[in-house]
Amino acid sequence: MLLRRGSHSPYPLYERIRRDGDLVRSRLRLYITPSHRWAGQILRDPRFGVSQVSASEGVVLPLPPRPPEPVHPIEDSFLSMDPPEHTRLRKLVSPWFTPRALRTRRAEIERVITGYLDELATKQRFDLVPEFAERVPIQVISDLLGVPTPDHERFSAWARQVGPALDGVHSLREQRRLDAVIAELHVFFKELIAHRRRHPGEDMLSQLVQSTVDGKPVPERDLLATAGLLLLAGFGTTLNLIGNGALALLVNRDARERLLADFDLAPNVVEETLRHSPPVHFTVRAALEPVEIAGTQLKPGDHVAVLLAAANRDPKVFRNPDRFDITRPNSREHLAFAGGVHFCVGAGLARMEGEIALRELFRRFPALRLDGQVKRNVARLLPTLESVPVSLTK
Ligand code: HEM
Repeated sequence: MLLRRGSHSPYPLYERIRRDGDLVRSRLRLYITPSHRWAGQILRDPRFGVSQVSASEGVVLPLPPRPPEPVHPIEDSFLSMDPPEHTRLRKLVSPWFTPRALRTRRAEIERVITGYLDELATKQRFDLVPEFAERVPIQVISDLLGVPTPDHERFSAWARQVGPALDGVHSLREQRRLDAVIAELHVFFKELIAHRRRHPGEDMLSQLVQSTVDGKPVPERDLLATAGLLLLAGFGTTLNLIGNGALALLVNRDARERLLADFDLAPNVVEETLRHSPPVHFTVRAALEPVEIAGTQLKPGDHVAVLLAAANRDPKVFRNPDRFDITRPNSREHLAFAGGVHFCVGAGLARMEGEIALRELFRRFPALRLDGQVKRNVARLLPTLESVPVSLTK
């Protein structure tokens, strides 16, 4: 296993790996890179792919092959495909994330966030995670996909349950629970797709059901996987961007005062949060052909864990890397959204959500303060905030 579950901060371990070199081999034959330079190169190198990545390289339990249904939102989606299949499917969704497409969503996102803050303003104390950071991405993804409002609660519960399991399941009980959620998600999207075929709206799913790939309608399997992927890829990640950003501003007085003096610094807060506390800690690539990395010859099938979180604190690129500094000139060189063909398609949307959420939260509640114990789960891939109790009074 790459990192032990249950350990607190993984950053001391990342530093130990860094001391061992740019490319380190773990006891389980997995190569690991904490280096910003090599991480970026591997992510962009077409001699590495994702379709050959075997789950058992990073997962404790060897699992039997899955049946064709239910469709798995990660393993069956374009996130787990190499070009040219990957390119064909990614092209279907990328027009929804262009700067122009995002501009048309901005006012609605601002309206939604302002509405949540109005509700919170009536309270003395609240929990930033369930009452704010979690609500924003669920609403945004639901709008994008055309999920009806009464289904938001179920939708959000599924995303919360699948997120931690992306690390790999550690018991048959966990596996059964995960299978049940994936099956429910499958049925949910199947029904929604059927509904959108009969009653198309302005949303992405309505358009996807009418799209074609190589002159043929998109297979239902790909529609299901893509919808599930967007939910899972856009939920826990954005929740943590908003949560980690708010937390950083609550504990770093200097950064918060700078933001309060100039709200145009909100994009810097977002970039520095992504660098300092990226939601996704690593990704894995497999060599598709012989390739030399950092002086080591890799064979086809060799796996490399690209430690995005460690690359983001590489002292060769970022001065004083453990410091949260919203005036850092090169925060944006972080690898929080990975790179190459799988570079996060939702990066622009996530940045916009994070920027509006953090700016408006502190504009509305400049005296916001921590008021209780912060809780985070101990997942290795996507360590997720569960509770950030805050209070509005000084
Ligand atoms: C891919 C991070 C938000 C949709 C990725 C990858 C990373 C990432 C690291 C690459 C994974 C890999 O190569 O293994 C993040 C972070 C986010 C965020 C840190 C928030 C702060 C979103 C949002 C959406 C989204 C809001 C859409 C609603 C996707 C999709 C992919 C992806 C569809 C697959 C891209 C591909 O395989 O070509 N994201 N993401 N993400 N992300 Fe995001």
